[in-house]
Amino acid sequence: MSEWWRDAVLYQVYPRSFADSNGDGVGDLAGITARLDHLAWLGVDGLWLSPVHPSPNADWGYDVADYVGVDPALGTLADLDALIAGADARGIRVLLDLVPNHTSVEHPWFVDARSSRDAPHRDWYVWADPKPDGAPPNNWVSGFLGPAWELDTRTDQSYLHHFLVEQADLNWWHDAVRDEFDRILRFWFDRGVAGFRIDVCHMIVKDRLLRDNPPLTGGEHWMDRLGGQRNEYNGCRPEVHDVLRRWRGVGDDYDPPRLFLGETHVFDVDQIVSFYGQGDELQLAFNFLFVFAPFEAAALRAVVEQAEAHLPAHATPCWTMGNHDVSRYVTRWCEGDPQRVRAALVLLLGLRGTAVLYYGDELGMPDTDVPADRLLDPVSARFQPFLNRDAARTPMPWNAEPGGGFTVPGVEPWLPVGDLGRCNVADQQADPNSTLHLTRDLLALRRALPALQRGAYATWPAPDGVWAWRRGEHVLVAVNLTGEPTRLPDVEGTVRVATDRARDGERVAGTLTLGPWAAAVLTLA
Ligand code: NOJ
Repeated sequence: MSEWWRDAVLYQVYPRSFADSNGDGVGDLAGITARLDHLAWLGVDGLWLSPVHPSPNADWGYDVADYVGVDPALGTLADLDALIAGADARGIRVLLDLVPNHTSVEHPWFVDARSSRDAPHRDWYVWADPKPDGAPPNNWVSGFLGPAWELDTRTDQSYLHHFLVEQADLNWWHDAVRDEFDRILRFWFDRGVAGFRIDVCHMIVKDRLLRDNPPLTGGEHWMDRLGGQRNEYNGCRPEVHDVLRRWRGVGDDYDPPRLFLGETHVFDVDQIVSFYGQGDELQLAFNFLFVFAPFEAAALRAVVEQAEAHLPAHATPCWTMGNHDVSRYVTRWCEGDPQRVRAALVLLLGLRGTAVLYYGDELGMPDTDVPADRLLDPVSARFQPFLNRDAARTPMPWNAEPGGGFTVPGVEPWLPVGDLGRCNVADQQADPNSTLHLTRDLLALRRALPALQRGAYATWPAPDGVWAWRRGEHVLVAVNLTGEPTRLPDVEGTVRVATDRARDGERVAGTLTLGPWAAAVLTLA
């Protein structure tokens, strides 16, 4: 099973919000370990843990202060070893989150780097002189908007930060940085970590000459227009691929080879494809065109058809409906409507490739209302009400008791719990009709039907607003993305799993009818 990830379902855990084992209101590693049985019961193949390393939490773990440690709020290295062992015993692999673009300004490397122009770690970061008039060294914009440079008066130079000022960009032109990250990878791989999700993986190497970005051309995807410039010189540089090939070499030294899943936050399919290299870079690259498409048949189908057409044979697509940076699909795509939620799950899990669920997706967990005075994410605070990442980061609802089974009753969780009566694991586990059981049965079906694992994708004719596709020769997935009933002609087969569970096992001879926002997976015969 050296390519275990090809048709896998991965599950993203946001560690602070999964399960609190010590009653301090913050989720932790021991809490995740205690909940591994849920994940095994659900049937996921792997976990991706958002950062677990020591961090001052300016960006909640994405500002790393020690790449080979565990944040005390989350536990210890021994807790992480126990989590990996517990997952392994259940056939679940564990991926960590690698944040190579930047470190926390509190990382000892940066503390040293900023201390003087001659400091040993000075060149581990990107420094430049401000313009004579005091303006930043070039026009690059931070992903969180505003200039990507901060003047450090101690040495009168600016350092680059493509995110918060507390997140200083590393200088990936420097061999010592590359060597250090090889060591970091091996440290974790030697401990049994199955791979990494790589944060902002497309941006790690910047133009060596720090040239200004050109203006927008007008043809960009709306996500690419947010910074008001084309990321020509600070994103997708050719040298990024050198680093990815190097990491792949490190990962391929292990058995099974370690997995690299990139947060390729790019909005051009050929750029996504480029990160697979010749089968020698990332094994998986997230397709964010899918995440940011509307929940409409034509739009989503276009994204998938385009990916299927552009990806070379060696490459596996990677689909997700959301993560800790965006509104949950239940709210963003489905307006909280349980029918749409169930259709979305059939859609995601019926696609060819690796699927990534975000914790709570399996329940149809919506965004939680996090009032302005409880916001902890500075980015949300800056951009609300347009962006509220905290709303998608709230505690996993395990049951309807006070604390939601996430923490002990009476303890204030770090972020508020959502509406426990509406959505929790215990209630859904007890109800075979629940969204949780639907998700579990879809995962089981993926395992049972080889066509759902590796079968080629082929669009199947369907009325407007309906998306249907064949997987291999004998499996059909049909999703009605409208509020009207619909009919698909010329279908002969058996419903294996439908959003309306009463239809499981139904024989279809001629016409497949689907109610509003209904979906089904069928075997054709
Ligand atoms: C992407 C991460 O997913 C996000 O949470 C973070 O703020 C930025 N990268 C910066 O690390």
